[in-house]
Amino acid sequence: MHREIAKGVYYVGVDDNLTDLFENLWKLPFGVSYNSYLIVDEKIAVIETVKGPWSEEWLNNIREVVDPSKIDYIILNHMEPDHTGALPDISEIVPNATIVYTPFASKIRHSFYDIPNPEKKVADLEELSLGSKTLKFVHAKFLHWPETMMTYIVEDEILFSCDAFGAFGSLNGKLFDDEVNMDLVEKESMRYVSTIITSYFKFVQAGIKKVKDLGIGIKVIAPSHGPVYRKDPMWVVDKYDEWSGPDMVKKCVIVYGTMYGFTHRTAIMLKKELLGHGVDVRLHNLSYSELSQVITDTVRAGVLVIGTPTYDAFPYPKVWGFVNEVVGKRYPKRPIALFGTHGWGGGGVKKLRTQLENAKFEIMEPVIRCHGRPKAEEIQQIKDLAKSIADHLK
Ligand SMILES: Cc1cc2nc3c(=O)[nH]c(=O)nc-3n(C[C@H](O)[C@H](O)[C@H](O)COP(=O)(O)O)c2cc1C
Ligand SMILES: [Fe+2]
Ligand SMILES: [Fe+2]
Repeated sequence: MHREIAKGVYYVGVDDNLTDLFENLWKLPFGVSYNSYLIVDEKIAVIETVKGPWSEEWLNNIREVVDPSKIDYIILNHMEPDHTGALPDISEIVPNATIVYTPFASKIRHSFYDIPNPEKKVADLEELSLGSKTLKFVHAKFLHWPETMMTYIVEDEILFSCDAFGAFGSLNGKLFDDEVNMDLVEKESMRYVSTIITSYFKFVQAGIKKVKDLGIGIKVIAPSHGPVYRKDPMWVVDKYDEWSGPDMVKKCVIVYGTMYGFTHRTAIMLKKELLGHGVDVRLHNLSYSELSQVITDTVRAGVLVIGTPTYDAFPYPKVWGFVNEVVGKRYPKRPIALFGTHGWGGGGVKKLRTQLENAKFEIMEPVIRCHGRPKAEEIQQIKDLAKSIADHLK
């Protein structure tokens, strides 16, 4: 199905309620949408395609409005296959449609797809007339990849922002911010930002500044995932600004793994002490909490505490994996506290410490290492650490 957004501008995207894991990593309990937009003017342009398996449904959405063989321009804001997977299918229908994207995207296109379509590489802020409507292309480096751009219709003041301002969650026939459940959108866009874009927070900040500095009017923000914002487009801009900004939340999150409960016992003791200091504290056992939720909860936690048993001289695998996310996603800096238990030589906590210090995180003292269960000395350390964390969060 399609929906009209403005005169001659249509939503022709699709819902994905089948994929279990986005990027084969992140849970999609409410699905995800691959948004695509059709602009019908003297020239016809389509913005983004969809993920490959949804290509037929997408083409049928276009067919409800125009014959896809009449398309003049295929505008690709971003080359990731959730937006370009259907490119070979549309190319078969319109091998002469011109693909419009950044010079960097051209290189990726030729590496991904063997299709004959001509191309137009656009410079930052370059414009393209479709007749009565003018498209302006705004390069948006690393939102989400280095080749990404946004597309803006000058006359309608609609910004097609691509992955930026997107959200998980399929649309199920509803499209606009005044039609959807915004509580769910808020949760699902925060989880989307945290899992997909955390590494690029400074580019989110730069992108927001760039769009604001252009001084263009924005009546509608139409991202490539999730709802279209027409009632309050600045809502999502402000949220993204806050979520990618430097201010941490005054809370402590304890993330740990455990096989037989010794690390768990330590985590619980620390939690109790922190609650005694009035700290907002939550716990994630990595064997039970879903990783995207753990990342969403920790990415802006004022203090992060990580606990691990030693497992074959290394950190427990799930904890090791989480710490690699903290480093790989370039979590904003804030103090990290560490604790762990071991049966003989240990090594888990030490390896976590080295990894995190190499990534320039400040490690809080004391670092707690228990031989087996926590005993008097470690129980005192737990109290001392809780006090330091509470002081830091004041
Ligand atoms: C599969 C396995 C591998 C382990 N490898 C090590 C090790 O290499 N070095 C060490 O000091 N302890 C090792 N231990 C002992 C645990 O680190 C220790 O019992 C710890 O207290 C377990 O914490 P937990 O009860 O939170 O799982 C190992 C335990 C298991 C079950
Ligand atoms: Fe992307
Ligand atoms: Fe995407």
